[in-house]
Amino acid sequence: MKKTISILAAVAIASGIAATSSCKKKSDDSMTPVATQTLYDSLGGTTMVADPSNSGQMIEQGRLGIRSVVDSTIFVIAADTALNKFFPVLLSEVTAGNLSGFAALSKNLTDFFCVATGAQNFTYAGMDMVKAHDPAQNPRMNGKAGTADFDQFVADLVVGAKKVGLSDQLIGQVGAVVNTTRTQVVQK
Ligand code: HEM
Repeated sequence: MKKTISILAAVAIASGIAATSSCKKKSDDSMTPVATQTLYDSLGGTTMVADPSNSGQMIEQGRLGIRSVVDSTIFVIAADTALNKFFPVLLSEVTAGNLSGFAALSKNLTDFFCVATGAQNFTYAGMDMVKAHDPAQNPRMNGKAGTADFDQFVADLVVGAKKVGLSDQLIGQVGAVVNTTRTQVVQK
């Protein structure tokens, strides 16, 4: 946990610097804006690569990286007794061999993080973060999440991201994005 926080703190500072628009000095001494690299670019961006999960299909490398982290994290959370109680509908579906809810969650989380990290070619069409985490509005959410639950979710995200080989620096930057949702997800 201490490591998680230190990674997040270190790279939140770095990502703050990266998010600032930069200028390049031209030879005529005027300042020309230079496109800033988004986190999505750092994750692989729009370079098309073969999709290892869908034979014959291509996928943006940034999206593939995010989807890998998302799917890995869902498995970590599913095995985490501190958090899996929030996901009874999803877990009972998967236990019964029905992967439709898992596929929908994976897609929505992947879209959400693509958009949140700066992807241009995807949109998020799921519930807003307050609605998705309010049991009264989302019956798939079993109870309201507190601060400790959110911190545990971030810790599981770090484990999930490490499992698929994301660097500590990129994990910190993804963590900084995740933290922007804290006040909407934590509802008690
Ligand atoms: C940390 C930042 C988080 C983000 C960015 C996030 C994002 C999302 C998104 C995009 C969805 C899908 C909404 C939809 O299908 O329309 C979702 C669903 C859900 N989230 Fe979160 N979430 C976060 C934290 C948490 C935490 C801390 C918990 C529980 C403690 C939680 C529990 C759930 C549950 C139970 C669902 C429904 C899953 C299902 O489809 O069965 N989330 N979340």
